[in-house]
Amino acid sequence: MAQQRENDMSETIGVFEIEDRTFPPPDSFVSQANASDRALYEEAEQDYEAFWARQARELLTWSKDFDTTLEWDLPFAKWFVGGELNITANCLDRHVDAGKGDKVAYHWEGEPGDTRAITYAELLTDVKKFANVLKSLGLEKGDRAAIYMPMIPELPVAMLACARIGVAHSVIFGGFSAEAIVDRCEDAEARVIVTADGGYRKGAAAPLKPTVDEALKTGASSVEHVVVVNRCDLGPDMTSDRDLWWHELMAGASDDCPAEPMDAEQLLYLLYTSGTTAKPKGIMHTTGGYLTQVAFTHKYVFDLKPDTDIYWCAADIGWVTGHSYIVYGPLANGCTSVMYEGTPDTPAQDRLWDIVERYEVTQLYTAPTAIRMFMKWGAQEPAKHDLSSLRVLGTVGEPINPEAWMWYHEHIGGGRTPIVDTWWQTETGGHMISPLPGVTTTKPGSACRPIPGVFAELVDDEGNPVEVGGGYLTITRPWPSMLRGIWGDPDRYRDTYWSRFEGRYFAGDGAKLDEDGYLWLLGRVDDVMNISGHRISTTEVESALVDHSAVAEAAVVGGIDEITGQAIIGYVILRGGNEPSQELGDEIREHVGVKLGKIARPKAVIIVPDLPKTRSGKIMRRLLRDVADGRELGDTTTLADPGVVAEIANRAAEEDDD
Ligand code: PRX
Repeated sequence: MAQQRENDMSETIGVFEIEDRTFPPPDSFVSQANASDRALYEEAEQDYEAFWARQARELLTWSKDFDTTLEWDLPFAKWFVGGELNITANCLDRHVDAGKGDKVAYHWEGEPGDTRAITYAELLTDVKKFANVLKSLGLEKGDRAAIYMPMIPELPVAMLACARIGVAHSVIFGGFSAEAIVDRCEDAEARVIVTADGGYRKGAAAPLKPTVDEALKTGASSVEHVVVVNRCDLGPDMTSDRDLWWHELMAGASDDCPAEPMDAEQLLYLLYTSGTTAKPKGIMHTTGGYLTQVAFTHKYVFDLKPDTDIYWCAADIGWVTGHSYIVYGPLANGCTSVMYEGTPDTPAQDRLWDIVERYEVTQLYTAPTAIRMFMKWGAQEPAKHDLSSLRVLGTVGEPINPEAWMWYHEHIGGGRTPIVDTWWQTETGGHMISPLPGVTTTKPGSACRPIPGVFAELVDDEGNPVEVGGGYLTITRPWPSMLRGIWGDPDRYRDTYWSRFEGRYFAGDGAKLDEDGYLWLLGRVDDVMNISGHRISTTEVESALVDHSAVAEAAVVGGIDEITGQAIIGYVILRGGNEPSQELGDEIREHVGVKLGKIARPKAVIIVPDLPKTRSGKIMRRLLRDVADGRELGDTTTLADPGVVAEIANRAAEEDDD
């Protein structure tokens, strides 16, 4: 990255030109939208602290009002100082008290097809009981608990039970290894791990508990107890005294557990993300500011109508998207959500569309990588179902190529529904850059502009603002749901996020600003290639590759090239019905040349059956670079399917032989 930073981002070539139509919000949407004009933007521009203070007071219920909206001692922020609230009182008790106890909080669906409808009253009872379980195990306010679970209702129950008593949770994605559990539990000194025997994925029970056992054999000595949900009847080994069954503890637990008011800055959770070093960073989120921004964005970005909507975020709670937009935002707003345990192609490739139809889902929030997978499976899958209940579609996690945006718009949204492309990060806690569906005219592939109350600016290498063109994406003012630090390492927090550009938050993304002031995210700056001194974003080339009618999905890396510095290598998966051939590869290369200019034409296009992805669906470009450069493969332990890389290496070698 250091080397990349020395170059001028303004040389970034090409623009997304695949779809230059713009999409204003339909009149019928505007007339019913939570935000239908620029009023929120104007209010926030005038006085952003007062704006957020109003949101905090209107969207949340405080046990004690705050005295100071923001204390900002760069880079350390405190929001709503002096205020007190309990996050679960906001997510549960106040809805039950308002007579909505019978309202469904989650329509949960297991992968095998079993279902549960969990009301707000039931969720509150379970949360109180499990909070008492945690207390009975000796946990107190200020302690940390790790959670390593499948997508079952007990997962939000465990999180909320922690929050009720001021224990910070650290959710560890269920696809992570024993080593990841050890690292995270040791760093946080977690006293408990809440897990399950397993969860259903791809048509079978995938064990989880043995991974916890393996972790505890090698480390994480702070862990005193493991609480195990029996999801799959796998009969896991239970270490006596240490391991306890969830159902047995819950059977004996009292449901009397008043919500204790917490300081607005009480630590709510840690969520670990990988950084540039091997040690994962424990991103810290606190209570009042976090809940304010996630409730605000959930209400306005998804145009949420709690009385009538059935909202579905199809992410995993193991990631920040699930924390903010499956658990805290939706519950704070008192809405009904869908929660699904399994994979989208079990038992068939129309599982998601079947769920949308049956529950009459109104908002669907997913990732571009999933959308491209749906494209690969074909439009006939969504066409089997009535998707007319959908009102808003969302995407998150990576830049969305206009081709995928258009497919989502046409085949899922029926050409009607606004699409919100939401840019944010684990560190930002909530949405930062996104359209508001009743206000913003969208452009396919652009996350548009910062939401009201968030201030972003592109800068060049010297930190000077960029008017039009490429630059580094920085945030110029604090925001309520911002990370409060890296657990145990304030210096690393300052160095990682606040040192590159003075007074600005920078977390690694490059973007482009067009003449209309729209932001086009280009991916991490470390994914930007440098070909003959020109900066070319992997995203732009991927977008052009996917624009070819035979291409379903593409990943681009900069391989080493003696002449040009780097050479563009494109790995592509073909859409069904196309046969790999040298001619087709050449045609796809030429297509990129036509779209973006010769400089961006890949040196090689390698047709592959699959791409190496992490279990969260991110393409591991590092491994593709290793293949491109003929290096020995780096660490493959986080791959969902390690066999994929060997197959790709074979194809690349064949390409060389040709
Ligand atoms: O590069 C950006 C990309 O995902 C990164 C954050 O990843 P993570 O912390 O795992 O959180 C993902 C879910 C919020 C960002 O630095 N990213 C996220 N959303 C978008 C995106 N890139 C482009 N467009 C987006 N909408």
